[in-house]
Amino acid sequence: MTGPDPRQAGGRLGDPQETDDERDIEVSLRPRRFAEFVGQRAVKEQLEIFVAAARKRGETLDHVLLAGPPGLGKTTLAGIIAAELQVHVHTTSGPALERKVDVAGLLTNLEQGDVLFVDEIHRLNAAIEEVLYPAMEDYEIDIMIGEGPAARSIRMAVPPFTLIGATTRTGLLTTPLRDRFGVWQRLDYYDEDELAAIVRRSARILGTRVDDESAGEIARRARGTPRVANRLLRRVRDYAEVRHDGAVTRPICLAALELFQVDEEGLDKLDRDVLLTICQKFDGGPVGLDTLAVALGEEADTLMDVYEPYLIMRGFLKRTPRGRVLTQSGYRHCGIEPPEGPARLFG
Ligand SMILES: Nc1ncnc2c1ncn2[C@@H]1O[C@H](COP(=O)(O)OP(=O)(O)O)[C@@H](O)[C@H]1O
Ligand SMILES: [Mg+2]
Repeated sequence: MTGPDPRQAGGRLGDPQETDDERDIEVSLRPRRFAEFVGQRAVKEQLEIFVAAARKRGETLDHVLLAGPPGLGKTTLAGIIAAELQVHVHTTSGPALERKVDVAGLLTNLEQGDVLFVDEIHRLNAAIEEVLYPAMEDYEIDIMIGEGPAARSIRMAVPPFTLIGATTRTGLLTTPLRDRFGVWQRLDYYDEDELAAIVRRSARILGTRVDDESAGEIARRARGTPRVANRLLRRVRDYAEVRHDGAVTRPICLAALELFQVDEEGLDKLDRDVLLTICQKFDGGPVGLDTLAVALGEEADTLMDVYEPYLIMRGFLKRTPRGRVLTQSGYRHCGIEPPEGPARLFG
């Protein structure tokens, strides 16, 4: 790594991923019912139907796969599904499940109909996946009894349950695992009105007065992501409380966002660094992901999962077979005139 890790140096405002210190406050802002969940109409409506149908038949809900960039509501939806089904939710994650016995322990402790939420499910190791296949399909697991030559495998029943998997990268899921989900839903970035509604809702819960213009301003800079909207709101609220009387009005909101270096497009300093690095060090690209990651002192995975999706969605950056390329608007956002002519084929 070159330079300090921004997540340690006070946290990155535009980071759509959850940081440790905000877990508690996020819990208080998290919608608990479908009715409180803003936006994602199609996803919500479908899930509501599947949940209602399962309840009506007294059956266990089919396994659900939730995909989409970080901060869009996957964990929230898993909790809502469990609440609406009136069952317990047990939470774990791909990287946390290391040994087969841990999975066996989790599964045998479920009550009938419970939800097992597996975050980052694309990061499960192969051995664990194999335990999950029969569990998901037939509610059975194979466990090893004894050791050495006397060891034998026995098949054991587990209570019928619903596995809800969340992933930022569907492409990384193995086909056999993917095939075992009956319901797939993809979450997409939120529009400004939806984000403004989320900001107003969160402000109400936090007991902060935020006028509509400020809610709109925060929404516009929230990168389509509720988690970022909530984080910007909390920082603006800090500013309003320390420098003013606590109420968030447009001038206060704008001053705070300027101080925190979140620009009109919601890019923070690190996003702008990505664009500037491609522009200045690599002539606008194409540059390979790994090379770019080294130049920025970031992990390639972080770059790909956290920074790029939004920059690509906004049209500042493109992925091409030869690498990352800055677009015309990418150049302009850096305050640099894009080069002209046919040489810039990918721009
Ligand atoms: N549709 C929504 N309506 C209101 N708040 C939301 C919505 N989606 C997400 N949030 C808020 O954003 C935060 C991040 O959501 P989360 O479910 O943790 O995202 P993910 O699991 O996809 O990373 C939550 O704490 C919640 O407060
Ligand atoms: Mg999550």
